[in-house]
Amino acid sequence: MKETHPATPSTPSVGLGMRKFVAPEVVFGAGSRRLAGRYARNFGAERALLVTDPGVTAAGWAREVEQVLEEAEVPYSRFSAVSPNPRADEMMAGAEHYSANGCDVIIAVGGGSVIDCAKGIGIVSSNRRNVLELQGVDKVTQPMPPLVCVPTTGGTSADVSQFVIVTDVELRTKVAIISKSVVPDVSLVDPETLTTMDAFLTACTGIDAIVHAVEAYVSNAHSPLTDLHALEAIRLIYPNLAACLRDPGDVALRAPVMLGSLEAGLAFSNASLGAVHAMAHSLGGYLDLPHGECNTMLLRHVAAFNFDSASDRYEQIGLAMGLDMRGMGQTHKQAAILNAIESLRADMGITATLKSRGVSRGDVSALAEQALRDACLVTNPRWPNRRDLEVIYEEAL
Ligand SMILES: [Fe+2]
Repeated sequence: MKETHPATPSTPSVGLGMRKFVAPEVVFGAGSRRLAGRYARNFGAERALLVTDPGVTAAGWAREVEQVLEEAEVPYSRFSAVSPNPRADEMMAGAEHYSANGCDVIIAVGGGSVIDCAKGIGIVSSNRRNVLELQGVDKVTQPMPPLVCVPTTGGTSADVSQFVIVTDVELRTKVAIISKSVVPDVSLVDPETLTTMDAFLTACTGIDAIVHAVEAYVSNAHSPLTDLHALEAIRLIYPNLAACLRDPGDVALRAPVMLGSLEAGLAFSNASLGAVHAMAHSLGGYLDLPHGECNTMLLRHVAAFNFDSASDRYEQIGLAMGLDMRGMGQTHKQAAILNAIESLRADMGITATLKSRGVSRGDVSALAEQALRDACLVTNPRWPNRRDLEVIYEEAL
């Protein structure tokens, strides 16, 4: 009998351009949060600064991490004056708290706001400058103290990223600090922490993670390593996110979302983002709206704007979402992908428009002006001018 061999898969083409890939040490799995004390002790902590916020404290996660610090005999001091969109002055106050209490290691327990604030505290403590002076790319010259993160939302991925997002209250906007120096040392990614998130937070953070994956995949700075993580993130999150709303306490449903969020974070930290985030930063800083909700309201419109500049990549995103696009022409594929994005937003109960959240036509010009200055725009696959951004905001009104 003739032997048969499986078909040899074709080798994907690999670009020759140089790309770096930076990631912290990661422990993924149920119960990994309880390793925080051991890691703090391994860093030789004399006194840890525990950064958290009132919501995470109420959910019980901060106290649990305090207990493991006590078991590891690591003294700690708690700082929890952190807003949902962390402000520069909160980071400066946290840095003062860090120095006044003689801390030498930082433990962040919370979502992206808490982790961004902890990073801000870290770089202010080592660079002795106002955090807003460190905005931009590679402006952080001194490494921050050891930072251990316990993320409690499945979305922002600040626990693995090279980004810090700071709200500049005076200018009513958000600015980005992008540096290898703000990648945490350790991330303890524990899906059990997601079980206390309410429906709105689950939706906002989960869709934020999908936006990270989409923007990283179509980014001008993508690489084979980031592509791998971006597509896998979509495969993990897209089919499982809505189920988390039906049964919030089921860790088995939360686990793929948490793993997908981690993979999306590894992708965007190294490939950067695009116009959705540039425009969402402008919007979130202007009106103090939740980051994930801003992204959700903009994603479909930016994808429509970008589509022709990265149609093959959007098609791969559609396939990762599980769409059957066999036999479809380009126009139908585009419609199917945009509809899939829209239906996720509806399934997750995010129905707001920019107008219903307080944005008027008169705000559009200022929002576009600020978005044009955002570092995330640089890697968008299609370069928008100011009028393009205004039109996208108007479409989302
Ligand atoms: Fe984001």
